[in-house]
Amino acid sequence: MKRPLTLAAAIVCLSLGLPAAADRVPPGTDDDIRERLEPLGEVCVVGSDCAAATVASSAVDAVAGPRSGEEVYNRFCFACHTAGVAGAPKLGSAEDWAPRLAKGMDAMWETTVTGLGAMPPKGTCMACTDDEMQAAIDYMSGG
Ligand code: HEC
Repeated sequence: MKRPLTLAAAIVCLSLGLPAAADRVPPGTDDDIRERLEPLGEVCVVGSDCAAATVASSAVDAVAGPRSGEEVYNRFCFACHTAGVAGAPKLGSAEDWAPRLAKGMDAMWETTVTGLGAMPPKGTCMACTDDEMQAAIDYMSGG
């Protein structure tokens, strides 16, 4: 006769405890909670559909070929050369570029690749090919 009583007491305790536990659960429906617990990303295994999509997009990059001078400029050079930071010759400013063009393109090429004054080597585009670097210099200097 003792056992059922103990069990009943335990059940009472449990049911009393439930509302308190419910208070600690973050607000929202079960669906909201499930959504919050979703993983941030998923692992793509080569050969699966999601991996195929990734490969396709990098293939597009590769096919796109060398970047134009404008593309390189907009990505790597604009930060300094648009406003003329630290005396950088400004994009398309004939006045800024005249004395530099006078040195000759070879000299400008050299200083751009090695860095000059406040400009880091290759104007921070370390991955630029020679052609891309030249296109960027042409684009900004009008040379
Ligand atoms: C962190 C700022 C900064 C970035 C980024 C930058 N430059 Fe410059 N650049 C300068 C400054 C400053 C000068 C002027 C240096 C001097 O004369 O002392 C300069 C000068 C130049 C010159 C003239 C060189 C000469 O011999 O007179 C060229 C050409 C040039 N930059 C090309 C580029 C290209 C191309 C990029 C992007 C791929 C680039 N720069 C990115 C700051 C920058």
